[in-house]
Amino acid sequence: MEEKKQPTGGPYFVGKKDELIEAKRSVRTLEDRDVLIIYQQGVFYALDSYCYHAGGLLQNGDIEELNGRLCIICPKHKYKISLAEGESLYKATDPQETQPVPRWYSKGVKQRTHTVTEINGEVFVQLSKSRDWLESDFFQGEKGKLERAKV
Ligand code: FES
Repeated sequence: MEEKKQPTGGPYFVGKKDELIEAKRSVRTLEDRDVLIIYQQGVFYALDSYCYHAGGLLQNGDIEELNGRLCIICPKHKYKISLAEGESLYKATDPQETQPVPRWYSKGVKQRTHTVTEINGEVFVQLSKSRDWLESDFFQGEKGKLERAKV
């Protein structure tokens, strides 16, 4: 009888540094989770591939610096998610102010991020160890595939 492997979270080898840099964006499936690996401004980031809001494909999103933080902009409804923390950011004005000025606000961490390390030109991803449920979990795995098909 074949023994079922327990998920360990990694770290998993995801590719050679040079190849990932050239690709800029790569998706790997690790333990049934689709993870987007991004190389931007000299740094690797890894986060869940599907936007926490409605499963949009983050790999097709633009990246911009917003309020001093690199964010990916989901192509589906333009939600902004910080690459390093998975925090959802939005700009708004406070109508209570006499002269409302647009400011950046946070909805909190919504997108699961993972840890990337590079050793001798090889890149590894350690899946998030947090057991707290995050919105982006909803669109992962077999069940998530069905949910993505609905929206
Ligand atoms: Fe990403 Fe709606 S699915 S903003």
